[in-house]
Amino acid sequence: MPYESILFDVRDHVAFVTINRPDKLNALNDRVVDELSDAAGRIAAEEDIRGAILTGAGPKAFAAGADIGELAGQGPLDGKARALKGQAMLRRLERCGKPVIAAINGFALGGGCELALACHLRIASEQAKLGQPEVKLGIAPGYGGTQRLPRLVGRGAALSLILTGDTIDAQQALRIGLVNQVVPAAELLAAAERLLRGILKNGPLAVRLALEAVDRGLDMTLDEGLLLEANLFGLLASTRDMKEGLTAFLEKRPPGFEGR
Ligand code: COA
Repeated sequence: MPYESILFDVRDHVAFVTINRPDKLNALNDRVVDELSDAAGRIAAEEDIRGAILTGAGPKAFAAGADIGELAGQGPLDGKARALKGQAMLRRLERCGKPVIAAINGFALGGGCELALACHLRIASEQAKLGQPEVKLGIAPGYGGTQRLPRLVGRGAALSLILTGDTIDAQQALRIGLVNQVVPAAELLAAAERLLRGILKNGPLAVRLALEAVDRGLDMTLDEGLLLEANLFGLLASTRDMKEGLTAFLEKRPPGFEGR
């Protein structure tokens, strides 16, 4: 699919995905959602890609939400279809099997915050502002905010954001666990890349199965989740990478993982 509204570059096994509508604060219109969905499929499928960094073009916004102009014309069935389509795109990204980091360079509001929530880790610039302001527009979050936000920060902090529609700054987001790190704006992409490349030094199958255990396990009972974890732990014992990782430790040398 040719991209008009996002940039997609692969450099040294990392996909850099940039929402590229800076004049509209990178609002997520239907085209952006389609392109991000395609990008998520590429991240999952292309062997050369081992992880991804998602950010917004320009100095002001990661993404300032779903495109309000498009929402304004929708009826109940298109509204539901739009929410389901956005949710499916985010699920595809979340389940791509490779680590995805949101580099939040400015406003991450509404669908923009929900996009960041679907990434596995979030680094914010000191200027970032996050929130779920939908209720101020008479709508509610539709791209997973009512589900992922309470799972990440707890019910109380999530309801505070969702019901007030208030925007919080990067430091507040760090305090409630909505972002993992806050860095100066000029260092944001380098910090995200450093974090990702650190993860990519680990066993790729171990990272993949750990992502799967957390993603699937959160929706299970504790006993079911523990069984899933034990099964995946056992599955890893069939890999060359597990033998390599453990042997390298015992031989006091760095491991050479192959993803097998
Ligand atoms: N959808 C569509 N367009 C949007 C948008 C959105 N979610 N957010 C910003 N834009 C557009 C503005 O309409 C404006 O376009 P224009 O120049 O053609 O008029 C442009 O982006 C710049 O936004 P502007 O509002 O002028 O910037 P600002 O710095 O004064 O304010 C915000 C920044 C983020 C506070 C403000 O844009 C805003 O409140 N956006 C909506 C946030 C929101 O409610 N998101 C949830 C949507 S469900």
